[in-house]
Amino acid sequence: SRPKVVVARNLGPDVMPLFNRSDLDVVAWHSETEACGRKWLLENIVGASGVLVMLADKVAGPKLRIVSTMSVGYEHVDLQQLTDRGVRLGYTPDVLTDAVADLSIMLALMAGRNSRETMSVWPSYPWSPFAFCGPQLSANWLHPTRTAGFIGFGRIAQATLARLVPFGFTHCLYTGNPASAPTPERDATLARTLGVESVRRVALAELARESDVVFVLAPGAPSLRHVVDAAFLRGMKKTAVLVNTARGTLVDSDALALALREGWLWGAGIDVVEGEPHVGADHPLVKEPRCVVLPHIGSATTETRLGMATMAAKNLISGVLGDTMPAELSITR
Ligand code: GLV
Ligand code: GLV
Repeated sequence: SRPKVVVARNLGPDVMPLFNRSDLDVVAWHSETEACGRKWLLENIVGASGVLVMLADKVAGPKLRIVSTMSVGYEHVDLQQLTDRGVRLGYTPDVLTDAVADLSIMLALMAGRNSRETMSVWPSYPWSPFAFCGPQLSANWLHPTRTAGFIGFGRIAQATLARLVPFGFTHCLYTGNPASAPTPERDATLARTLGVESVRRVALAELARESDVVFVLAPGAPSLRHVVDAAFLRGMKKTAVLVNTARGTLVDSDALALALREGWLWGAGIDVVEGEPHVGADHPLVKEPRCVVLPHIGSATTETRLGMATMAAKNLISGVLGDTMPAELSITR
């Protein structure tokens, strides 16, 4: 009989036709804007060989062989269970790298230039020589060299660094997964290719101390919870900006709010917060004038979301039919 697949979101008129196939029994949630909910998912997952989920969905099913997530992150998936049961995981790397790198630069600029405050005063024009002035991201007469720090140095971080080169960035510091071997050769090659003076792996304290802008671009692993904490923030330059376009759990929100109020750093640009999407009006960052906050839109361009949805659909279909997936996570343990 035809394998059953469950698609937990309507992926729109450009992508859903991929599921019009006679070799699959497709059960798809009807709405694009509304989540299917736990009850619908658990009812329909019964007997399914594959499921396509969004970031917020958690699933389990005895017959499941394929999970396809429309995200690059997969902390919502229990990898241990997956390997124990021989389930394959499809995800969406690469297609969203440029969109998230773009947004990271946008937030670095917005946070430095006080956009939250300035947008809130418009249409008044309270000009004075130094009104609203913040630190300049690009290299300048006062700061001819610029240093970018990256917590996590994967595809998105490297694409962000490439965008900073025309801004006059000369140095790159990063912290990486301590389990992976240091790669000074890759770093030298990367520096040469991009035309920056140095790319160096350093300890967190040095990264905090030396960076003009810190980008948080690591996966949302439990071991990295609050990697940006009060001690890190206290160690930053007072003129530096923090950008988090990865996961809310990586940054201690209370510590960040305090740090911004006390001026330990200049500003922050945040696309993700702990506890999202259930963030109340009492969240410590809701009213911080020096914190630009966005509702997790890093990959939200038409082109990228179409690419992600198409890839997630193809991962599901290929996986269930026993073929190679366009992007399968190789789980090594
Ligand atoms: C978005 O946060 C993703 O993981 O794709
Ligand atoms: C995510 O795709 C990353 O490698 O940074």
